[in-house]
Parts: sequence; C-alpha cells; structure tokens
Amino acid sequence: MDKFLVEKSPPLRGTVRISGAKNSALPILAASLLGTEDIILEDVPKLKDVEVMCEVLTCLGAKVEILDKGIIKINSKDINNYETPYELMSKMRASFLVMGPLLSRTGKTKTSMPGGCAIGTRPIDLHLKGFKALGAKIDVNHGNIGAYAERLIGDRIYLDFPSVGATENIMMAAVMAEGETIIDNAAMEPEIVDLANFLNKLGADIKGAGTSSIRIKGVKELGGATHSVIPDRIEAGTFMVAAAITNGDVVVENVITSHIKPIIAKLREAGCQVIENENKDKVRVIGSASPRAVDIKTLPYPGFPTDMQAQFMALMSVAKGTSVIIETVFENRFMHVDELKRMGADIKIDGRSAIIQGVDSLMAAPVKATDLRAGAALVLAGLVSDGVTEISDIYHIDRGYENMEEKFAQLGANIRRI
Ligand code: UD1
Repeated sequence: MDKFLVEKSPPLRGTVRISGAKNSALPILAASLLGTEDIILEDVPKLKDVEVMCEVLTCLGAKVEILDKGIIKINSKDINNYETPYELMSKMRASFLVMGPLLSRTGKTKTSMPGGCAIGTRPIDLHLKGFKALGAKIDVNHGNIGAYAERLIGDRIYLDFPSVGATENIMMAAVMAEGETIIDNAAMEPEIVDLANFLNKLGADIKGAGTSSIRIKGVKELGGATHSVIPDRIEAGTFMVAAAITNGDVVVENVITSHIKPIIAKLREAGCQVIENENKDKVRVIGSASPRAVDIKTLPYPGFPTDMQAQFMALMSVAKGTSVIIETVFENRFMHVDELKRMGADIKIDGRSAIIQGVDSLMAAPVKATDLRAGAALVLAGLVSDGVTEISDIYHIDRGYENMEEKFAQLGANIRRI
C-alpha cells in the first residue's frame, strides 16, 4: 500500500492550480442519470471517488467515456438497472446520491444502507424523509434500502439540519415530480448551486439554490448539456494553509474567492496576508513567521467548513497561543488528534471541542490518515516537523486530492510516494 514520506520543507513558493471540486463532481455525475441526451462534464477531477461514481453509473446502464483530461461524456438514455450493489456502496458513501435520480427516472431504487464511517454515524433519515414526502414508499430490510413510487408529487419539505447530501438527493428526486417542491432549511453550499445550475441546463426548473429555500417545478424530461465543475474550495483551502504553516508565499489559482471567505478570514486573523486578485479567481497567501492562535467553529455554509477543520488544527498546533476548535457538523471528527499528538502537538478533546496549545515545533512520526481531510492535515504537519513523517493509508487522500504530491512538490515541498 502506498505511503507518503514528508520531510521538513522550506517555505512553499510558487503557483498551484486547483482542480474541479470533488463534492460537485460526485452529485453532478449522479444527476447525469436524469438526462436522456449526451452530457459533457469538464474539469472533473481525477480521483478515486470519481472513478467509483463512474463505475456506479456504468453498472446502472449509463455509457461513460473519458474523452480527455478532466472531460467525461455520459449518456444515460438506456439505463437498465436500479440497484447499486453493496460492493460499490461500501467503497463510497456518496454512491447513495444515485437514489434520488433513479427514483425520478425509473420509479424505483435499491441499494445497501450506507454504514458508519470514520467521521461519525452519518444517518440518511433526511434523504428518506424527502423521498417519502414526494410519495415514495421506503422499504428497509436485511441491510438494504429501497424507495419506490409510481409517481412523485411535489411537496414542501423541511430539513431538520441543512444536510448537503439530503438537499442534493431530494432536489434530484423532485426535478421531474408533478407540481412544485420546496426544500426549506436547505443546504446553501456552492456545490448545491453548481448542481442546480447543471440540472437547469438539462432543462430543470430550480430556483433559490444557494439560499435556504429551494423551489423546484417539475418538468416532463431532461436532455443533455455541457457543464464545467466549479473549483474545489477545500483543495484551495488546504494549499492556503500549506502556505501559512510553512511561512511561504503561494498563489492559488482557479478559485472562486467568495466560496472561501471563512478560510481567508481565519488565515488573516492568524496573521497571514491574503491578497485576492481583481477577478476574484486567485489568492496569494503570504505566511507569518509566528502565526497566532485563532478559534474556529465549524458550521454549514457560509460558516467555516468542517472539511477544513483538520488542516486548521495542524496550523494551530504550531501557532502562538491557545485555540479552541468546535466541530458542530459531525459528532466524531477528531480522529486526526491522536495522530497529531504523536507528532508532538498539545491537544485536548472535550466533547465537540478541541483545545490546542501551540508548540514551538513538531516531530516526525509514523502516522495514519484516518480519513481524507485528516490525511491532508498530517501532510501539512509533516511539512514543519523535524525528520521524515511516514503517512500510511493514503488511499483516503487519493479519494479527494488530485495529484497531491506533485502539486506540493511543485511548490518546493519534500514529499514523495512510496
Ligand atoms: C457532504 C460532503 C462532505 C462534507 C459534508 C458537510 C459530499 C460528497 N460530501 O457530506 O465532504 O464534510 O457535506 O459539509 O458532498 N445528517 C443527518 N441525517 C441525514 C443526513 C445528514 O442527521 O439524513 C447529518 C450528518 O450526520 C452530519 C450532518 O447532517 O452530522 C451533515 O451531513 P451532510 O451535510 O449530509 O454531509 P454529506 O452530504 O454526507
């Protein structure tokens, strides 16, 4: 199994181009099941999770072709299966996102219940609440879950929590339902807006994506379109923190700066300079020799993203002073803490809070990537640790970062895959 070896690195310098967003590409690939004509997706990141989603689409009968770097062509005219096998579901939770489109397209969908994962129990009750409200019958037995509906009828659905996946799945189920569906307390993440824009290009009638109330007027059918995936705000944030932690000077290209406001704000609070260009599609991050401790509370968008919590914790581990990081989105997202402590970080957990006392330096140690963003945090910590940090289980990192080691190496980081 691959590992990363990360050595203490000089301040990172140069320019890095951010890939298309994993969390946009996955729902958009799932939504491609809804159209009956050719769909061309551009700026699709080359990631393990994207590969799995393409396998899911193929297994459902869609034709998926990789045309060029980052360009995928999909035709779902002849989908002939409504079941996602356990093997694919267990490889990636986001496979669950095909349920909404299948229900809409074929009136039935079946898969295995997604299990828990490293960052929490991650229930799917809100997805099912939405399907039920649209008239589907839900059947759960022997670890399988099915949703069936002869016709879907629009309704008003209130989400108890603005779940990203539930908002996406319900939106996709509702696009061809009769009448109007309103999702209240919907997630407002940029990836929701990207999905809605894509669906509207296919012929859907969705308004309000990006606000907490999304209105979907059902249409008869959806066709084809060409669509470019938005840049990955979490990959951008990870490289911004890399510049900060190494006291470097890095230009991060292909970003939408309005999507990363909390990251920019917190880096500035920590004493870094963050300069946005006029087009708001690049940021330059100039580190500080002695970054300050800042407090962070993760929240649904536009709050501070939970997917950047671990990376900021790496930065806070070497900041001046004490910081408190409160994780409100997932109940068990502190798996990286024990690994950072192996590297000499001083962190205490109290329920959903982590109290981090910055230390002068970290020491290399063998560590394990327990999930995708935890893995990114360990790479960042490795860049400023004395010695060679050996990170195992980096398949988690490959799920969500395109060419991570090449991009880091281009900026002068000492990182290699073995
Ligand atoms: C998506 C992202 C993930 C990110 C997360 C929060 C993708 C592929 N993944 O995950 O990277 O960390 O948003 O920004 O886009 N919940 C329920 N019931 C449900 C659904 C969710 O209680 O039916 C809870 C979850 O347990 C969690 C919270 O809602 O505590 C947020 O989850 P959700 O927004 O659904 O995250 P995902 O869509 O799974």
